[in-house]
Amino acid sequence: MAMTRAHWGSRLGFVLAASGSAVGLGNLWKFPYVTWENQGGAFVLVYLAAVVLLGVPIMTAEILVGRRAQLSPVPAFEKLGGGGWSAVGWLGVAAGGVIQSYYMVIAGWSLWSFYQCAGWSLGGYTSPADGAFGEFLANAPLQLSLTATFTLATAYIVWRGIGGGIETATKIMMPLLLAILLYLLGTALLMDGRDQALRMLFLPDFSTLRASSLLEAVGQAFFSLSLGLGAMITYGSYISKEESIFRSSVAVVALDTAVALIAAVAMFTIIFSVEGLSESLSGSTVGMLFVTLPELFYTQMPGGVLLAPAFYVLVAAAALSSTISLGEVVVSLFIDRMGWTRGKATLVATGVVFLGSILAALSVGAVPALSSFELFAGKAGVLSTLDHVAANLLLPLGGLGTTVFVGWFLGREDVREELGAFGQSAVFSVWLWLVRVVAPVAITALLIAVFMGKDFS
Ligand code: PHE
Repeated sequence: MAMTRAHWGSRLGFVLAASGSAVGLGNLWKFPYVTWENQGGAFVLVYLAAVVLLGVPIMTAEILVGRRAQLSPVPAFEKLGGGGWSAVGWLGVAAGGVIQSYYMVIAGWSLWSFYQCAGWSLGGYTSPADGAFGEFLANAPLQLSLTATFTLATAYIVWRGIGGGIETATKIMMPLLLAILLYLLGTALLMDGRDQALRMLFLPDFSTLRASSLLEAVGQAFFSLSLGLGAMITYGSYISKEESIFRSSVAVVALDTAVALIAAVAMFTIIFSVEGLSESLSGSTVGMLFVTLPELFYTQMPGGVLLAPAFYVLVAAAALSSTISLGEVVVSLFIDRMGWTRGKATLVATGVVFLGSILAALSVGAVPALSSFELFAGKAGVLSTLDHVAANLLLPLGGLGTTVFVGWFLGREDVREELGAFGQSAVFSVWLWLVRVVAPVAITALLIAVFMGKDFS
């Protein structure tokens, strides 16, 4: 490749764009509800361990592969490791397509919440009737149009090229989102349910842990940090040679984890504080982000009337900066591999993913045949099944491939060189040990345990 590759404008630029990919529905929607379903404490602790012991090293490893190769995942593995390694890249592309297909559905819900909040802000808040969210989920035309809207928005940005836009957009958006979240947290912490929420989140009860919840915590860490499918390889290929990959990784991981924890503390507190709220989650906690928070905005928070619609715009924007990175993994492959134009690549990728989205959108309530089957225990319907397969299987497998590749097949000196000053520091050997031994062994052991149906409790 003779062309010089475009690079991020600044160190903060990369950290923000990578955080834009990482921070999204995984933090605001998924972390709180998965934590609730896994009964908090012990699950949170395993999650934090996964973030530190697997998340940081794998984030570093992915960015390293991207910057070393200066290419998107499939050709990057090919260039650095030879043909067979491209399988890890292909696995990531598959995972990217699967995640996108159902992610669009949930992202669509944030548009609806914005619309609803705008209505409440103008006309006055009325607590939604019991089961209102269930009706919303079962409304097929509404679900399909929200999903289609979000799909088109993503396709448009990916088609325009992520170049300057993504960096600028996240630079404005991320601080705003963080500010509203901190304000939400502050308000929530003044409510009665605070102690109960903090106890549930931070007092571990290990008797609740099963092999499958351990894997779910690991899968959630991968999902939330955008690891295991090559998104960080792609973004890493745009990071300049002067920057410290390790420091950037730590910054992204810390920010992502903070956002997830803040969201969970705020939501759990409200659920414990407001009478009847846990029931109105309509039996399932999947919609927590969309059912729980409006209550806080409109009944407790000074200025909530203005902040609620703004918050859901930012949720949509956070989701968009994640779907863009997912889309880019698939589209950049079509461009690199098939020699397609960006337009054609975007059109084909969007079309294929949307077929999956249709099934996912109809599987949250509209079509019983799509919502009721259970391939995996407790994961009913297309959306949950896709989420389970992608997050808890494909991403850990992709992460396993990346760590084995960087730990055992990439030359030690190449790795050191790419890591700059960090490669010469004492922490480097700890990092290398995590990449070579701890991460591969932990992921393999968990996958085997879950496949064999092991239950530790
Ligand atoms: N990390 C994103 C989120 O938390 C989702 C994502 C996963 C994005 C994998 C890109 C790659 O919402």
